Amino acid sequence: MGMEFTTRTLEAAFTVRFDHRIFFTRSVFSPENPVLARLFEKTGDGDKALVVVDDGVAHAFPNLVDQIVTCFAPESFPIRLVCPPLVVPGGEKAKNSPHFVEELHRQIDRTGLCRHSYLLAIGGGALLDAVGFAAATAHRGIRHIRFPTTTLGQADSGIGVKNGINAFGKKNFIGAFAPPFAVFNDSDFWPSLPPPERRAGLIEAIKVALIRDAVFFEELEKNVLALARGDVPVMEQAIYRCAQLHFQHITQGGDPFELGSARPLDFGHWAAHKLEQISGFSISHGEAVALGLTLDAFYSCRSGMLPGRSLDRVLSLLEKLDFSLYHPLMRETDAQGEWPLLHGLNEFREHLGGELTITLLEDIGRGIEVHRIDSALMQKCVLELAARSGFSTARL
Ligand SMILES: NC(=O)c1ccc[n+]([C@@H]2O[C@H](COP(=O)([O-])OP(=O)(O)OC[C@H]3O[C@@H](n4cnc5c(N)ncnc54)[C@H](O)[C@@H]3O)[C@@H](O)[C@H]2O)c1
Ligand SMILES: [Zn+2]
Repeated sequence: MGMEFTTRTLEAAFTVRFDHRIFFTRSVFSPENPVLARLFEKTGDGDKALVVVDDGVAHAFPNLVDQIVTCFAPESFPIRLVCPPLVVPGGEKAKNSPHFVEELHRQIDRTGLCRHSYLLAIGGGALLDAVGFAAATAHRGIRHIRFPTTTLGQADSGIGVKNGINAFGKKNFIGAFAPPFAVFNDSDFWPSLPPPERRAGLIEAIKVALIRDAVFFEELEKNVLALARGDVPVMEQAIYRCAQLHFQHITQGGDPFELGSARPLDFGHWAAHKLEQISGFSISHGEAVALGLTLDAFYSCRSGMLPGRSLDRVLSLLEKLDFSLYHPLMRETDAQGEWPLLHGLNEFREHLGGELTITLLEDIGRGIEVHRIDSALMQKCVLELAARSGFSTARL
């Protein structure tokens, strides 16, 4: 006679409401700009804030720290700073070790922030990812307000719901999904960006246009000269549309925390993340996405999906904006004669879980998900890109 098991089960689906707010503005810390004070007044119940500033930004804007202090100083301002803004090293090094996050936790503890307090971060996407992770994990989540200062941060990374740091040589291995309390996109931070950083946001705009919005792609083509010059109003419009498409995906796409196996907006990113890693992060995220996007557009074409004339349009737009379409690390081999780049496919799958799902292109404005990549064809595409860029393929 078998044993009888009595199991009592409680099961229910439940939803949690999040609000996502992105403000596009200028001179956000100017005493004349009411947008920040209004946000705090509207949400009312917090009273303290800690501000963290990327040292690259503090260096480029020597008055910024004083401006922030002045902005929070008036008796009538709804929130107090718990200490002067902390200026900390920005860039990928903020994400490459757990120490920075630990130090922030220490500061959050020391200054007595609670879940209704605010942790403000002003800086590049890397610093925001790390501060966002510290905010998501201190007291299991305190309010985080982001001020992305790069075009890439304002177009994509800074306005999303992902935080994290790198570990075990892998991008964003440790992290959390935690929607920011608010995001302020301020184009007054752009003038100090060197040209490659200034155009980096455009690569995310091209990415999302390619998979979602052919009309947006045409606009980028039409405005290419102004974009290449870094014309601010034209750039602002491109960054706004890019942010809007990401925002819509997060808030209406049905999977903001990426519980499925797909990451539809990460076209070109499997290779990009791997190239950042194998270059020891000397290839920036923006440059890496340009390379990854070119490769996947090539592969889409050579595997019979993307028409050749559409591929030409993609390559031409990237070239006019001065993005490199090939890097020798793409075809580097390891001791076993394998291409580390191609390990990026499996690492991308592992990071997401489930079935390999890569977004490719059927046409401009139309992404398509595939679950199998032909490695030999991918290698051929790399070699073709190398030859096209004038790099000899004789060694292979
Ligand atoms: N969370 C996400 O969803 C997501 C998405 C895409 C990318 N990312 C991450 O974002 C990071 C890249 O961010 P990024 O492109 O903003 O670069 P970054 O944060 O690496 O910054 C690059 C450099 O520019 C400096 N800097 C920043 N703003 C400046 C300004 N206005 N003037 C002068 N210097 C300035 C920084 O100090 C840094 O040295 C990567 O770690 C990438 O993985 C995250
Ligand atoms: Zn990206």
